[in-house]
Amino acid sequence: MAILVTGGAGFIGANFVRHWLASSDEVVVNLDKLTYAGNLESLAPLVADGRHRFVQGDICDAELVGSLLESYRPWAIVHFAAESHVDRSILGPGEFVRTNIEGTFTLLECARAYWSGLEADARSAFRFLHVSTDEVYGSLSADEPPFAESHRYEPNSPYSASKAASDHLARAWHQTYGLPVLTTNCSNNYGPFQFPEKLIPLVIVNALAGKPLPIYGDGCQVRDWLYVGDHCAAIRTVLTSGQIGETYNVGGWNEIANIDIVHTVCRLLDQVRPSPTGPYEQLIRFVADRPGHDRRYAIDARKIEQALGWRPAETFDSGIAKTVHWYLDHGAWVEHVQSGAYREWIARQYDAGSAP
Ligand code: NAD
Ligand code: TYD
Repeated sequence: MAILVTGGAGFIGANFVRHWLASSDEVVVNLDKLTYAGNLESLAPLVADGRHRFVQGDICDAELVGSLLESYRPWAIVHFAAESHVDRSILGPGEFVRTNIEGTFTLLECARAYWSGLEADARSAFRFLHVSTDEVYGSLSADEPPFAESHRYEPNSPYSASKAASDHLARAWHQTYGLPVLTTNCSNNYGPFQFPEKLIPLVIVNALAGKPLPIYGDGCQVRDWLYVGDHCAAIRTVLTSGQIGETYNVGGWNEIANIDIVHTVCRLLDQVRPSPTGPYEQLIRFVADRPGHDRRYAIDARKIEQALGWRPAETFDSGIAKTVHWYLDHGAWVEHVQSGAYREWIARQYDAGSAP
């Protein structure tokens, strides 16, 4: 038994691979291009574990994807691989269109060809889980209800537009070809192994280095934060019990303004790693706003709770405390990411392009 995970060296993918293998002996084939966001150091304990087969490659490479499906015969594809950072999408949208749209199209086509050729039992057991974001729904005003699965699509950034397009492709491949697709639309994740250019790890890492903590605009934009381990559990639940063709919104019931996130992180750091120069909050700097910056995201996660029994296990207080401690305890991981040394680590641990 095997599953194919794409983007399993990224933040959520690496957490998912660890989460999956903590309670399964199935082989996980991990297809990842290792862009700046892919870091095999996040999977270090699995280097010598035969259940983890890493393959460096591009989801746009149909020949490679097809050959992996034929060799490993997975019962599921869990598709994380994407360009994921809104700020990068504003500076260079091309790679977002290529990976998020063309890459998802390629995977869907390869999955369709493979699934069509399966025996009846394997065909009915097969699943394609498309991992997406709440950002496809656009921005909420302060008094609008949270995003339900039926909310209109209204993406505002090149990132969210490319993810919206990939959601539409996934939906169409189910409606038209019957491919057994499941889609999850999740809110902002935080937790271990997140690349320190996203808000929470950026603030932790910059604060510890005595660097400015940049707040875009007035800092009153609201996100619904979910601990990454809870997202992994939700994906496992949808994969094993979700209704084919359905989409499930996944969120933490934690709407928090950016400025409050930053204050919380500063206060936690003040308690556990006080700075000799005074409270970390003095490093906060308000900077120019992000163009097209969505004001508020919030998820109505009642469907996945009522239909599948999933609820987040962490509160924001418990999750953020774990996260701050994780970054304090993993200085080497942070340092390697910042210096680019994780690439040397990969070269030492892995032969390029081959499974460990
Ligand atoms: P990430 O940027 O940390 O990781 C993405 C991974 O995909 C990296 O390992 C990268 O090397 C790989 N990748 C990129 N292009 C590739 C390609 N062409 N072929 C193969 N691999 C490629 O992203 P993340 O935060 O872990 O997000 C994973 C998924 O979850 C994405 O689809 C994202 O849209 C979705 N999502 C993220 C969040 C969040 O808060 N981070 C929330 C909801 C949904
Ligand atoms: P981010 O982590 O980039 O996630 P997303 O844009 O996908 O929600 O940003 C989270 C929020 O934090 C978003 O409203 C932008 C804001 N932000 C800052 O204020 N300063 C920063 O330096 C960063 C990276 C983000």
